[in-house]
Amino acid sequence: MDNKRRLHYLEAMGIDVWLPRASVPSRQPLSSEVVPNDAEPETTTESTTDKWVALQTEVAKCTKCTLCKTRTQTVFGAGNKQAGWMLVGEAPGQHEDEQGQPFVGNAGLLLTEMLRAMGLTREEVFITNIVKCRPPNNRDPHADEIESCNDYLQRQQKLIQPKIILAIGRIAAQTLLKTDEPLASLRGKVHTLNNTPVVVIYHPAYLLRSLSEKRKAWLDLKLAMQTVKDSEG
Ligand code: URA
Ligand code: SF4
Repeated sequence: MDNKRRLHYLEAMGIDVWLPRASVPSRQPLSSEVVPNDAEPETTTESTTDKWVALQTEVAKCTKCTLCKTRTQTVFGAGNKQAGWMLVGEAPGQHEDEQGQPFVGNAGLLLTEMLRAMGLTREEVFITNIVKCRPPNNRDPHADEIESCNDYLQRQQKLIQPKIILAIGRIAAQTLLKTDEPLASLRGKVHTLNNTPVVVIYHPAYLLRSLSEKRKAWLDLKLAMQTVKDSEG
């Protein structure tokens, strides 16, 4: 329900709504305005572009968790907003925090190569992370930070509607699939999230340290390609 309609309903129910102008931020969307509530018919006429702008604006100034205190800037994600492939990493590192873009350090270079091996470019896919702000000293994001940030990821998935999600590394995989299982038992299978297939791949930062896993990494990418092919019939 959009804000105008909500006010209308409240007024119709006899609830006196008075909002001073200053308390109504012009481009700060209410979450229900941006995320359609499945239980209600879609009443907003907000375009997909507006939803992206609203979401991006919201993330850029987010202070929902303490990572906002140490970040240089948020890292929203980058790539094609109608991508068939959505890639989800763990968290921005130092370079990402400095540049505001995901996967721009060494791990990012290898990720670009992994995409190339599948015949994909970074411009064709959408890449983001579980949390949009860099954890200090690149520590793992805490559960409460992941929880605070999760809504943004959900909204990105809803807007993109990818054919496949690649969970990059253990943290992304465990978060997306809501499990504590080790990476070894999560890779090699097709999972699902909101009806979208999810394939777990090794984190490129890990592969840079353990090149012996490269062959298995390629098996994961092949599974992902096959999954997309199958979904296209
Ligand atoms: N590692 C990640 O998980 N995400 C990035 O954006 C960069 C490195
Ligand atoms: Fe907000 Fe996410 Fe950054 Fe926390 S990590 S401040 S929830 S954008």
